[in-house]
Amino acid sequence: MPLKTNALYYGGDYNPEQWDRQTIEQDIPLMREAGVNMATVNVFAWGELEADEGCWDEEAFSRLAERIDALGKAGISVDLATGTAAPPAWMAHKYPDSLPVDRQGVRLGFGSRQGYCLSSPEYRAGVVRLSREIATRFGSHEAVALFHINNEYGCHIHECFCERCAGEFRQWLQQKYGSIEELNHAWGCAFWSQRRRNFEQVEPPRATPTFHNPAHLADWRRFSNEQMLKLFRLEKEQLQARAPQIPITTNFMGYFPPVDYRQWAREVDVVSNDEYPDPADPAAIAEQAWSADMQRGYKGQPWLIMEQAPGVVQWRAANASKRPGQWALWSLSQIARGADGALCFQWRQSEAGAETWHGAMVPHYGTAGSHWKEMVDLGTKLANLSPVAGTQVQAEVAVMVDWESEIIRSTSIGPVPHSWMGQARVWHRSLFEAGITADVVGVDADLSQYRMVIVADLAAPDAILGKKLEEFVEGGGQLIGTTGTGRFTPEGKAALGGYLGVLSSLFGVNVEGTVYGVNAAETAVVAEGVNEHLGGSTPQGAPDGNPDPRVCRITAAVGAPAAARYVGIEPVDPALERAMDSLCEVRPALRGKTRADSIEVEDATPIAFFTDGIATDLNGKAAITRRKVGKGQAWYVGTDLDLAGRAGVLALVGAHARVRPVLPGAPAGVEAVKRGKVLFVLNHADKAAELSGMVGTDLLSATQLSGHVVVPPRSAIALWQ
Ligand code: GLA
Ligand code: ZN
Repeated sequence: MPLKTNALYYGGDYNPEQWDRQTIEQDIPLMREAGVNMATVNVFAWGELEADEGCWDEEAFSRLAERIDALGKAGISVDLATGTAAPPAWMAHKYPDSLPVDRQGVRLGFGSRQGYCLSSPEYRAGVVRLSREIATRFGSHEAVALFHINNEYGCHIHECFCERCAGEFRQWLQQKYGSIEELNHAWGCAFWSQRRRNFEQVEPPRATPTFHNPAHLADWRRFSNEQMLKLFRLEKEQLQARAPQIPITTNFMGYFPPVDYRQWAREVDVVSNDEYPDPADPAAIAEQAWSADMQRGYKGQPWLIMEQAPGVVQWRAANASKRPGQWALWSLSQIARGADGALCFQWRQSEAGAETWHGAMVPHYGTAGSHWKEMVDLGTKLANLSPVAGTQVQAEVAVMVDWESEIIRSTSIGPVPHSWMGQARVWHRSLFEAGITADVVGVDADLSQYRMVIVADLAAPDAILGKKLEEFVEGGGQLIGTTGTGRFTPEGKAALGGYLGVLSSLFGVNVEGTVYGVNAAETAVVAEGVNEHLGGSTPQGAPDGNPDPRVCRITAAVGAPAAARYVGIEPVDPALERAMDSLCEVRPALRGKTRADSIEVEDATPIAFFTDGIATDLNGKAAITRRKVGKGQAWYVGTDLDLAGRAGVLALVGAHARVRPVLPGAPAGVEAVKRGKVLFVLNHADKAAELSGMVGTDLLSATQLSGHVVVPPRSAIALWQ
């Protein structure tokens, strides 16, 4: 059941249970003033609604009903949450083992949120009871446009190490493997004396003296993802049985590692996502674009920004403020990439509790200041943008990602710290910087609409993917593959006989090994929550510092290219040189960052060779190759190129693919995206952007443009063409 999209949605989490009547009475008039047309209610109200097991607090329910009625009367749609994300105090006290246990065996206490064991029968019974009640009471209310199941599954608790979860894990393994011998074989239990004689001997990966078996960890990740999905399905069944006409969502968190969102996306009617870019990071907008392109890719449909911060967050070590204009600009950049609404956390800033210092649409100060003006301004803009609701973004490039590969790679131990989808993210960033719109797709994607596909560091491709990529290239596609790809079999074991595995023949090269530098540890963005299993230490400098040749007769003469900060590469193909030349006035060096593959060229043409830096010992060996296959080409990049290197390769391969920026020659700081008939021009820079050739109606300002346009700093136009 799709969400109605006659207009773009605007609003946020609305928690009237935190406020007195007098304050609540101001809410709806203010919402109307700001153009709010959707409110998410009941996300954390379980403790209000259920006074004791099975005992509903009728007063709390009638307050909720009154709010839903009032929102409906004001024409504001309700995204009604089932309210199950924070079980109430009585549950923790009556059933202490409904609380989660961490890997040290510590049972967590009540007094925060998401305090539940993923296998607790009492929690399961509780979510069934509450979601059924919500659906029964409100499932035919016409204000309810969307059901919001739970909230950010896994955000704080994505695994539980209690005995009951251990039991469910064993059952899950038994189903997966059939026999303990199969499990021993799949996990490689001959290593470190880990052979089990029966399933009872298998435990969750609790705290251990040193590294866990990676296959054990990977199965634990898969199991925990499915435990959460089971909880989601329990609620979904209750809602669908009572109100099948209301679409269902649960809010995602970008590309949060513990949850396989591509799988989950198949189970929701509407993809919704929470996005909190850090205003202190200039590249946050690229990261946000990556996440947006990913949400769009899950279903190939518009989605909702369910949460973003209308101001500061309070949960980072340092919480930077958004600058004037960024609230609207960042919202619009996601609308441009296919979002059908910009909701936020939250409507009214709390006066108590853990999120007192988190920004909201109505701040502590009230509505007299500049903050409120920005809130109202975005409401006006979104109303003007109604014609884009429901329309699609067209992309000619796809960046491919694979949760399975990431799980395998992130649970393996070394050789470089894992950065979750790190290489795919940086290639996407380079496309973003080049002004080229890309879809982020899964391995199951239909590639026929794309001219260029990037498979970066995709650890465990299978033969089906190999065939699909081969057909893509044969049919005329340009494929870029990078280092790290194909290191594992689909089962998660090391690929023997060459690290490209099933993709080796397509690229016409084989990868013997990789030379690693030591700055990998610094370069990697370690994925929170997944990489915490990764033990070991990053290399430390010698306690004596750098050897001085006058007194270190021996050690000062030792070369250590691994300590270099770059991988040196020399282009030999004039087209690649021209591509590098096209980037800026003085040609930047073509370089990698932390690793270099030792490549055996079998049936391909090298277009660049390694020279020095980390790759010193590979001097003269191929670094980048290309192979013509049918009407297309397969390009292999045997290093993690830096920004300039990726820009050069994209300029070269993009030209073969005839992929062009959305707005060629766009001024610095300008992001351009085409959605349906509307060209979004978003000026992220501190200075005004001057553009020519802008003819049409700017929907945002409802004015007619006839060519030359000046877009002020941190603002946008949306040109209907
Ligand atoms: C998450 C939650 C919200 C709120 C915000 C604060 O996204 O879903 O309830 O805590 O974080 O940023
Ligand atoms: Zn548990």
